[in-house]
Amino acid sequence: MSEAQNFTAGMDLAPESEGSNRRDFLDGIALASLGIAAVGSVRVLIGYLSPNVLFEPPARFRAGIPDSYPVNSVTFIEDQQVYIVRTPAGFYAVSAVCTHLGCITQWKPEDHLIECPCHGSKFKNDGAKVAGPAPRPLPHFSIALTADGELVVDKLETIRAEQVLKV
Ligand code: FES
Repeated sequence: MSEAQNFTAGMDLAPESEGSNRRDFLDGIALASLGIAAVGSVRVLIGYLSPNVLFEPPARFRAGIPDSYPVNSVTFIEDQQVYIVRTPAGFYAVSAVCTHLGCITQWKPEDHLIECPCHGSKFKNDGAKVAGPAPRPLPHFSIALTADGELVVDKLETIRAEQVLKV
């Protein structure tokens, strides 16, 4: 084979090789586009199938045995945002959520008051408002004893402040 024939043969192959590269490149882009679309579709499907709910603790909860609360004590149940108050007369459960704009109040034993850090509302340990912009007292929740002797609070049932669980 002469040098001229080799050169000609090389010239014939070049356009075909170039077309093949372009086709591979376009195939790659098409595959990448399909992959991106598939991933996007799967994410949308997972978002559609997974429940869009808030997981909160149940509104009815056990609060332990009465003896775990000293007389004349206010105990903050943080995950429920409730105060369990024990007086010589008995137990009551008071919401820790301020009735002004919903901030979580704090028991201040040195002042013997429940105070709101947001705008300064103050409440007695029975929820009665003492000061500040809160429009209402802190609500009382139903509190009872279970058959096995534990306190149980139901935040779905508000009761009058005068109702006390005698133990
Ligand atoms: S939220 Fe408690 S005083 Fe405003």
